Amino acid sequence: MSEPFLDSAKLLALMKSCGREFHRLCISPASVTPHLPASATKEAGVLRLIPCTAPEQCVLSGLWRNELGSNMTISAVNAEGGFTGSYLTAVTATDKRILVSPLKGSQNRKSQRKQPTFGFTVSWTFSNSVTVFVGQCFMDDNGEEILKTMWLLRQEVRSPSADWKATRVGTNVFTRIK
Ligand code: BTN
Repeated sequence: MSEPFLDSAKLLALMKSCGREFHRLCISPASVTPHLPASATKEAGVLRLIPCTAPEQCVLSGLWRNELGSNMTISAVNAEGGFTGSYLTAVTATDKRILVSPLKGSQNRKSQRKQPTFGFTVSWTFSNSVTVFVGQCFMDDNGEEILKTMWLLRQEVRSPSADWKATRVGTNVFTRIK
């Protein structure tokens, strides 16, 4: 979605093509082309840009993939911040065949925040476990949305004496596929 690097001629062309949307172009000093010395970069006017099509707000709805290769779909977020979806994990702590599982969550203050926080629960259909995720929807330096999450996976164990080994913890980063 975002154009990685543009010289000044391309920038002008982009400005023209964007018309009234030009105000949404972002030029970040932190994202100046890294392989050029600072002076050369300045002279050449080579900057990383976020085109006018980049969304201004991070939106949870859509299809996402994490670094393990797991896919999840999140429905439209409703007026109260609630959402549902489905999760297809790429990995499992069990020896069961992986199946798609439902998820249910909520986003904080839906329409007001550019980078909202959220949480959701996946109730696994093919195991006796539940995973809860909490995270934040960020716009990264390229204008791309990413979900930074942390999760707790609770497995069923036979008795309280096995409780100590029932919970796993980890992080996942999701990027938008669609
Ligand atoms: C199970 O093994 O009982 C259910 C599947 C758990 C998959 C976990 S949830 C946290 C982590 N992130 C993923 O995408 N998959 C694993």
